[in-house]
Amino acid sequence: MNILIIGTGYVGLVSGACFSEFGFKVTCIDHDKSKIKNLKKSIIPIYEPGLNDLVKKNIDNKNLNFDTNANKYLNKSDCIFLAVGTPSRRGDGHADLKFVFKAVEQICLRINKKIVLVTKSTVPVGTAKKIKNIIKKYKKDELITVASNPEFLREGSAINDFLRPDRVVIGTNDEYSRLLLNSLYKPLNIRQVPIVNTDTETSELIKYASNSFLATKITFINEISVFCKKTGTNIGDVTRAMGLDKRIGSKFLHPGPGYGGSCFPKDTLAMSKIFKDHKIKFNIVDSVIKTNDKIKENLSAEILKIIKANKISKVLFLGLSFKPETDDIRESSSIFIIKYLLKKHKNLSISAHDPVAIPNAKKEKLNIKYHFDLNKSFESQQMVIIGTEWNIYRSINFKNLFSQMSSHVIYDLRNIYIHDKEIVKLGFKYYSLSSK
Ligand code: UDX
Repeated sequence: MNILIIGTGYVGLVSGACFSEFGFKVTCIDHDKSKIKNLKKSIIPIYEPGLNDLVKKNIDNKNLNFDTNANKYLNKSDCIFLAVGTPSRRGDGHADLKFVFKAVEQICLRINKKIVLVTKSTVPVGTAKKIKNIIKKYKKDELITVASNPEFLREGSAINDFLRPDRVVIGTNDEYSRLLLNSLYKPLNIRQVPIVNTDTETSELIKYASNSFLATKITFINEISVFCKKTGTNIGDVTRAMGLDKRIGSKFLHPGPGYGGSCFPKDTLAMSKIFKDHKIKFNIVDSVIKTNDKIKENLSAEILKIIKANKISKVLFLGLSFKPETDDIRESSSIFIIKYLLKKHKNLSISAHDPVAIPNAKKEKLNIKYHFDLNKSFESQQMVIIGTEWNIYRSINFKNLFSQMSSHVIYDLRNIYIHDKEIVKLGFKYYSLSSK
């Protein structure tokens, strides 16, 4: 089976590498020449654990190839995955499908054999129908059938999520596409991975509904956490006891400074718009979007108040990425709070450490200093804010830290040290998302 993947962002790249790992012949296309040049040498533009080795292994065994031009592969492919960006359209939050439709038209102009055209990117409900209309306009509907196969990859664990998924969702409206796509995921049968076969629109909805629900679950526990802080009740016991209820489950029940990333913010907004387009208000998701923003703003204001009350002039941020194990800073709470503080407190000196996200953070051109050496970053700081729960921040030696800092305030946005009594005994003022 020959697979063509258009778009080598983290979805296209991970999907291409994993399909080639299944033994299929995969070619990944991107119009970014320098990116393709690097990928051919298995130089990966994103930080994704294990991706480098997987790409290198499959280039070496000739299952994986990269190119800038799809044309010479179109009529040698059995299926084509669209993994191009579907960013939020500025201003109204709809998913922008211009890259999707451009790729479809390019394919229609040149295809002369039967293929299945699959949307892998997250696309609004009804996109497959729009693609079919384009195909009809080019009179290629005899050759091209359209399918939906959404990804459920988390940054930082994307390869595992592809090779050991909880489920595979396949959206087709014809037997040929359904059989072909199910055969692509046959290698997962040994792990008895459930495959949900449905129609294209339902498949598109499943992706948005799943992400919107996960964002809702996180926002729910973030609000409970705010309540716990106010009332001195124990958020750890609340999440543990809730999570033991199999109907709730313990995953995605960790309070934080608001969700970030390239998906939840984009997908919740798009979900709300899709409902609006059908004259339905998605009350819960609309409230999740507003609440998540409010949580980040309220936290930022609280931190500013603590800075002023303690006459802090030097703050160190630990963690800039929106979550651990990624260099992605999109919608990161740390970046949000840093921008807020820079705006509201002109002469505050902010510095930051992050294991991998500093190069991406530098593109934001923030007026802050960066530390690559964690141990040296603490010197003469007055406040340390733990923004992202990277493992290296889980074993801070507070005794040493105390002697390095000129005053001693900690804000732990991930509740990592919430049960560590030693910190307060050493003389630190310790703040966290909730009191216990
Ligand atoms: C998400 C979905 O999980 C994935 O299925 C989809 O394909 C893409 O979007 P991702 O955005 O990479 O994946 O990260 P995820 O691990 O879901 O975390 C998203 C945000 O929620 C992060 O800011 C994270 O810090 C936050 N989060 C996650 C919490 O605050 N608490 C949790 O318990 C889990």
